[in-house]
Amino acid sequence: MATLRKTIHDAAIAATALVTRLVPDRVPATFVGADSSRELCDAVARSGAKRVLVVTDRTLVEIGVVGRLVEALEAAGMSVSIFDGITPDPTFAAVEAGYAKLVSERAEAVLAVGGGSPIDAAKVIAAMATNGGRIEKLEGRFRVRRPPLALYAIPTTAGTGSEVTLAAVISDSASHAKKFFIDPKLLPLAVALDPLLMLGLPPAMTAATGMDALTHAVEAFLAKTATPQTDAHAVASVRLVFGNLPRAVADGRDVAARKAMALASWYGGLAFTRTSVGYVHAIAHTLGARYGTPHGRANALVLPHVLEFSLDASQERLARLATEIGIEAPSERERALGFIEAVRELEAKIGLAPTLEALRPADIPAIAKQALAEAYANYPVPRFMEASDCEAMLRKMCP
Ligand SMILES: [Fe+2]
Repeated sequence: MATLRKTIHDAAIAATALVTRLVPDRVPATFVGADSSRELCDAVARSGAKRVLVVTDRTLVEIGVVGRLVEALEAAGMSVSIFDGITPDPTFAAVEAGYAKLVSERAEAVLAVGGGSPIDAAKVIAAMATNGGRIEKLEGRFRVRRPPLALYAIPTTAGTGSEVTLAAVISDSASHAKKFFIDPKLLPLAVALDPLLMLGLPPAMTAATGMDALTHAVEAFLAKTATPQTDAHAVASVRLVFGNLPRAVADGRDVAARKAMALASWYGGLAFTRTSVGYVHAIAHTLGARYGTPHGRANALVLPHVLEFSLDASQERLARLATEIGIEAPSERERALGFIEAVRELEAKIGLAPTLEALRPADIPAIAKQALAEAYANYPVPRFMEASDCEAMLRKMCP
């Protein structure tokens, strides 16, 4: 029975890998560096659109980040309206409210400003604008028939990579179940990675979001769907995270470290949008849904355990990552183990605990079941996991 389940899983992954190779590969035009967000605002104005809707959250309005961008857009001759009703894990209702604002303001372009939540919401709002306005018609894979309204993104955290992925995750307003919107048409036209907008991110959020970026890159590198191109992107991301995340956490105003982390997130996004993710994300999503654990924090907690579980299947790949971050050891096995140890050391250095206070042993069977259901026949993992493996792993994360 277990073998049959694994066979079906493997066949589904092989089929997905084939389909993925047929999906057109487009990278949004990307402005990088201090004040690059202003360059993007100028590019939006030059596109010919006159009215733009900024999709964001209230905090970014309150701390003045949005105001500076609005000034830049207005200086370039644009009429700007703001929808700041996006909260973490955005719901269908929030996206529908954003779409209503877009219609009433007759916006011709959408600019997402924020972390993964505003960017994901903006993707769906822009797609609703040209596809009949019904969010439920767009849910699932390849459901966006017509190109969305011109969509631009300025990430203000470095981790989700949403600015370069073809997916959006929106929660059902009633059940809070996460719904996936996956379509290459959801990719923004252009993005700006502006470190000056990230200087105020608190250390704990910098640490957690940075580990999300690392998890995207590592899961992409170990995925059965990896290609030479996704490998190159994943390696670039891993090197940037190990070289810069401790600096960005220790000194949030280190512009060079912030820029490097923005790029790490961007490369990680390019890698996993082609390969998909793995068990780390499946378990982290489940912990997030049950306990409200921030996504990056949950990934950081789970990552070393899943790497240990995958060691035999991924030894050569883990050893390659070790070499990329400067770990030397005589054998491939030692280098692979050295990489897992380096992940643990990085997490300790940036203040992320190896256990989760909220995690209750009594919840573990249900968490394992839900996480494995998310990954089954869906995530191209290097080694198939049974419920008993997942439960044993979760027990190690209890305080
Ligand atoms: Fe993630």
